Amino acid sequence: MNQNKRVLLIISGGIAAYKCLEVIRRLQDHNISCPTILTKAGAEFVTPLSVSALSGGKVFQDLFDLTDEQEMGHIRLSREADLVLVAPATADIMAKMASGQANDLATTALLATDKPVMVAPAMNPMMWQHPATQANLETLKERGVTIVGPESGDMACGEHGAGRFVEPAVLVSSVVSFLNQSQNLKGKTALVTAGPTREAIDPVRYISNHSSGKQGYAIAEALVSAGADVTLVSGPTKLAPPTGVNFVPINTADELLAASKAALPTDIAIFAAAVADYKVANAATQKIKKKDGKAPKLEFEANPDILATIASIKKGRPDLVIGFAAETENLIKNAQSKLKKKDCDWILANDVSEKTGTFGGDASEVHLVKSNANESWGHQSKQATARQLVEAIAQELKG
Ligand code: PMT
Repeated sequence: MNQNKRVLLIISGGIAAYKCLEVIRRLQDHNISCPTILTKAGAEFVTPLSVSALSGGKVFQDLFDLTDEQEMGHIRLSREADLVLVAPATADIMAKMASGQANDLATTALLATDKPVMVAPAMNPMMWQHPATQANLETLKERGVTIVGPESGDMACGEHGAGRFVEPAVLVSSVVSFLNQSQNLKGKTALVTAGPTREAIDPVRYISNHSSGKQGYAIAEALVSAGADVTLVSGPTKLAPPTGVNFVPINTADELLAASKAALPTDIAIFAAAVADYKVANAATQKIKKKDGKAPKLEFEANPDILATIASIKKGRPDLVIGFAAETENLIKNAQSKLKKKDCDWILANDVSEKTGTFGGDASEVHLVKSNANESWGHQSKQATARQLVEAIAQELKG
């Protein structure tokens, strides 16, 4: 249940704003409090008094209201929430979110928050279909924003089509199930590997790959949000370790194996790291000098397979061992053979051809491959994939 969860509700200026009064009331039925920011345009559709009468709290409107600002109102508001909900979300506020504007309390709070953001769009169908709105929508999705709706139907403006605000009951159940995820893995331990490895050629040069760590870090973050105790073993990336993880930096596959073993026993093990299959057997202890312009001859030897090693543990094997498959062709077939060869429980297969931008990008298309089935999770942000994976893990462990 959502004991005393807080949702920061941002009401922007759409005719559907009045439906948020019902959203507030229904959220309170689930012990979810709703401090509210009313944008200038939003206040044209619902009064601060009607909102505060229902939410039982202050309605915040001005970025520079001295009393709130002294307590850093926008920071405090956005950090104390468990979820930030923009409803209704007009085309205007979506555009401001996508471009990172912060010229009022609502957009400043959205830029300052470290919590998940959910958006329930509502606008005229032509505005919804406009390429600019659709581009802003894609940007928000790639940043991990959860989108609820809009629905299709008759609009207040007399037109018909996609753009209608979702029914309050639908929005409330989306919020409740989103927040419920935060208890799904309480008491569970998880190991996540992420990022590239670096195998030395000499003290100056190394072999690595394009992994940015984004997918692994998103998974670690989603596991922490679901209440798990997470160890993140990561190759070198530009990312800050997610809050709340036990972070273990590594460089080589050997170090990755040692750190993964040190994290045992664990209930869940997810291997998102892009691990070099080989290391340089004759790595030099001094910087290799050019000899008459001839290239050095490098010899390679196999690295340990960390996923296969952990999956093959007899006593104390994690309940769920999940690998990734980075393929450029025959995605499902190659993933199925990896599933068998490495003896793991699930494989998340993704096409890493250059055109997909999977390596280093904010979004990808992942296929969940099990021994008896496979399904595409569609092209979405790596955060959305991470949340979907955590939900699937929770269901599996419950089962
Ligand atoms: O980091 P990002 O930029 O967000 O990109 C994400 C990603 C593309 C790196 C990620 O989605 C991904 O696909 N990670 C796995 C990359 C990889 O090494 O795939 P693979 O098919 O070569 O390896 C299969 C599995 O075995 C992987 O779980 C891998 O972690 C594991 N492995 C591989 C080799 C090895 N020596 N030890 C391993 O544990």
